[in-house]
Amino acid sequence: MAPRKIIIDTDPGQDDAVAILLALASPDEIDVLGITAVAGNVPLALTAKNARIVCELAGKPETLVFAGCDRPLGRDLVTAEHVHGKTGLNGPVLPDPTMPLQDQHGVDFIIDTVRAHDPGSVTLCPLGPLTNIAMAFEKAPDIMERVQEIVLMGGAYFEVGNITPAAEFNIYVDPQAAGIVFKSGVPIVVMPLDVTHKALVTRPRNDAFRAIGNEVGTAVAEMTDFFERFDKEKYGSEGAPLHDPCVTAYLIQPELFTGRHINVEIETHSELTMGMTVADWWRVTDRPPNAMFMGDIDADGFFALLTERLARL
Ligand code: BDR
Ligand code: CA
Repeated sequence: MAPRKIIIDTDPGQDDAVAILLALASPDEIDVLGITAVAGNVPLALTAKNARIVCELAGKPETLVFAGCDRPLGRDLVTAEHVHGKTGLNGPVLPDPTMPLQDQHGVDFIIDTVRAHDPGSVTLCPLGPLTNIAMAFEKAPDIMERVQEIVLMGGAYFEVGNITPAAEFNIYVDPQAAGIVFKSGVPIVVMPLDVTHKALVTRPRNDAFRAIGNEVGTAVAEMTDFFERFDKEKYGSEGAPLHDPCVTAYLIQPELFTGRHINVEIETHSELTMGMTVADWWRVTDRPPNAMFMGDIDADGFFALLTERLARL
C-alpha cells in the first residue's frame, strides 16, 4: 500500500518531537508532506524553530516546515513552559537548525496541499491547539470535504483535564478552533488523555530508548527524562505520558488503539469548563457521532513500535 500522505500540525514540545521522529522514521507507511507549526506549548517562533531542530535530528532537513498562527482565534495564548521548559524542547542539547523555514504561511500550505491532492488523500495530524486547522477551514471551506481524516491529540473524558480541572491543554488553548474542527464533518480520530495517560515512559522504557545507541534514542531518553519530573510529581505515576506519538503510531498500527465512535462537543462559553470535550461515551444523547474517541492502548506494543522505529534513524 502507498504511504499515507499527512500534514503534521504541531507545537513542539518534547512529545510532539517524538511524534515527528516516529513519522519521519516510517516512510513505508507515512509520507510527511509538510509540518506546520502553531503557537501552543511555547510561542510560535520557538515551535517553528523546534520543528526544524527535530527534522535535522532525524536526518531529514529536506522536510518542509512552515510557521502558522501565532495566537488562538479569540483568546490570549496560554503556554506550557512549566511542563516543557523555556525552549519547549528542554532536555537534550541540540544544535540550532540550519534548514530553512518556508516563506508560505502554514495555513495557506494546508489549503494548497489539500486542494492539490486527490480528494480523500491527505490526512491532517494536529498535535497542538487547533488554530491552523480551523483557520484553513474558515478560509477555504471547500477543503473540508477533501480531507481524508483528522487524527489528533486532544481532549479527555474519564481523565477530565490537565490544564484546568475540566480541559485538556490543546483544546483549552483554542476552544473556538476546536469547536470549528469538531463541527467540520471531516472524519476525526481523537487520542485523548484517557489513552495518553496509559502511554507512560517507565524507567525500563526510557532505558530502552537510551539503549538504541543512536543520537535520536539518546535525545528522546533525555527529553522524556526532562518532562518526567513534572508529570511524576503531578500524577504520582511511574513516568511521563507520551501524548502526541499516539497520533503517528495510530497511522502505522491502528490496532494498538480501541475506542468508540461517538459525539464530541466542545465547551466554548463557560469559563469554568472552557475547552472541555463533552464526549457522549455512554451514548446518552441522540447527537450524531462525529469522532472516533479512543479509550485504550496496547502500551507495550506502542513502546515496542516506537523503539524499533527510532532505531532506524
Ligand atoms: C498536549 O499538550 C501539550 O503539552 C503536549 O504536547 C500534548 O500535545 C497534552 O495535553
Ligand atoms: Ca503538542
